Amino acid sequence: MIQTVEIVEGSTPLVVPAEHSDGGPGKITGGVFFNGKMAFNRDVSVMFLRALGGVSAVDAMSATGARAVRLANEVPGCEVVANDSSRLAHGFISRNIELNSLTNCRASNKDLRVLLAEESFGYVDIDPFGSPMPFLHAAIGGCAKGGVLAVTATDTAPLAGAHRKKCERRYGSRPIRGAMCHEGGLRILLSSLARELAKFDRGMMPLLCHSSDHYYRVYVRVTDTASHADETLSKLIYMGVDPDTRQRLVSNALSKETPHGPFWGGRLFDDSILGRLDPKGVEEGRRCEKSIALWKSELDRIPYVYCADEMSSHAGVGSPRFADLLDRLSEIGPVSPTHISPTSFRTEIPATEIVAVLRSM
Ligand SMILES: C[S@@+](CC[C@H](N)C(=O)[O-])C[C@H]1O[C@@H](n2cnc3c(N)ncnc32)[C@H](O)[C@@H]1O
Repeated sequence: MIQTVEIVEGSTPLVVPAEHSDGGPGKITGGVFFNGKMAFNRDVSVMFLRALGGVSAVDAMSATGARAVRLANEVPGCEVVANDSSRLAHGFISRNIELNSLTNCRASNKDLRVLLAEESFGYVDIDPFGSPMPFLHAAIGGCAKGGVLAVTATDTAPLAGAHRKKCERRYGSRPIRGAMCHEGGLRILLSSLARELAKFDRGMMPLLCHSSDHYYRVYVRVTDTASHADETLSKLIYMGVDPDTRQRLVSNALSKETPHGPFWGGRLFDDSILGRLDPKGVEEGRRCEKSIALWKSELDRIPYVYCADEMSSHAGVGSPRFADLLDRLSEIGPVSPTHISPTSFRTEIPATEIVAVLRSM
């Protein structure tokens, strides 16, 4: 018998295992997985689906049903299937549907590969332990025409370059280490998704992609023409860093100067979705507000970042106040902070000029 506890997340009461994770990637501690630290991840999906509008959704790896039940309860017009292959998880899902008296949420107890071969949905959510790659094929198959795929990856160590071989094996991409590691990891996840979709003559348009805590999370609109699949693939890039100047280098092909990739080289956010995100009533409202402001300010068409500490040490000076550096750089050209790291910024100002500014401060 699993000991349980009732909590409230957002505006939704949930029954979860009494013994559960509250940080890091989390692990199954009470028979069924629940990680309180992922409340922000679930908050973003609530805000995202409210912005997208009512849709038929599947939370294909639902565990306690926390995300699915919150979507059904907090997003008007949402019809949700909460699926998990574990029998124990199915018990929690059913209890949580009952606890919230939901008529727009159905529990399912199948391997997602079976469920997504049988039914398709306007929104397919994949939230596995570690890499989503083994599940992408099925997720794409179960995503309706013009639908949205939402994918979490918690295997950030390979994606961010700590385990290069594993990243190459799983994602077919060579990661980049150092100041660009998480920007690179997020964009490798997207590039793998783009290449997987292309096999089905489908393309994608990222709507909201973020790197937070110990995971990456991407929401992409799936498009359904072979020509858009080609257009999507044309946005894949390779990157490198000049060891002498720290200048970021980008190319459409693998080269000696750009040995890392392929990465997604297009945007991470869709302005109209960002404009409609509303943190009202979510669990971590303050954090959501701050994140929305940061995402809106990002020059995400620039697929690389510089780190203030890295560039200061390269310039042989101490790090100035981050806000002061951004002010000075903005006198030269467009520059923005990035949500990926509090000390990184996006700009096309050449590295030599960044160094000159740092030495003058
Ligand atoms: C990280 S947990 C999901 C957490 C959940 N989305 C949340 O927000 O609390 C991953 C879940 O995937 C389930 N799972 C693993 N393989 C599966 C498969 N092939 N089909 C369906 N569910 C699967 C596991 O039983 C586990 O409950």
